[in-house]
Amino acid sequence: MSVARSRDRVQHTVIFSQYPQYSCSTSGSSFNAIYNYYKTRELPSEMKWSIIDRWATHPLLIKTFAERIKQELAQFPKEKRDDVIILFSAHSLPLQVVNRGDSYPAEVGATVALVMQELNYCNPYSLVWQSKVGPTAWLGPFTDEALKGYVKQGKKNFILVPIAFVNEHIETLHELDIEYCHELAQELGIETIRRAAAPNDHPIFIDALADIVDSHLKSKQSINPKFLTRCPHCVNLSCDASKNWYAKICKS
Ligand code: FES
Repeated sequence: MSVARSRDRVQHTVIFSQYPQYSCSTSGSSFNAIYNYYKTRELPSEMKWSIIDRWATHPLLIKTFAERIKQELAQFPKEKRDDVIILFSAHSLPLQVVNRGDSYPAEVGATVALVMQELNYCNPYSLVWQSKVGPTAWLGPFTDEALKGYVKQGKKNFILVPIAFVNEHIETLHELDIEYCHELAQELGIETIRRAAAPNDHPIFIDALADIVDSHLKSKQSINPKFLTRCPHCVNLSCDASKNWYAKICKS
């Protein structure tokens, strides 16, 4: 995060979350961190603030994922292509967070539904969850367990799609590529498993980012009312203070 200061004479700061789907554990905690930084500092005077908090259903984001999947499907022999199962894999959340009312699972589901609509429901698909840590209960089914389950059902060909990550990092390059597509696939005797690239620098994705900012600057809404409302069972007082602060700075 770079810090907006008075001496830079910035007129408008747009805080643009790079997580397409909103979770209080990811975007929310980043927004809280920005609030925590500024709460004891003087805000640059005469600077307008606005927020892009989520963009899970943006048409060009959907097109980007669809293109990434088409590229991988084309690598399968024609006679196998229709049987490939598309597994959309997103970072999981503790069930305690889900049950507080976090909107992330629904927003990831919305992205998946639109990507499959864009692909004319060309293949069977499922939404699965990865990267669980610790002993508490997390949202499933987990990506590795789903692969095991489908193999038991006789399925042999898969594409893994990182649907909530916009670029490569340890959870795509290590967890998906090495742990699942290489080690687990060998152990399970999977015939072919491919991993769709994250959006990264796909030209349609770059257009998506530009369009999101452009539409935001043209719109009259500086903040999403949904962002200003806490989860129904939120117990984090930082969320309360932070949302009140954003409501104030984005209005002025
Ligand atoms: Fe969601 Fe606080 S945990 S608003």
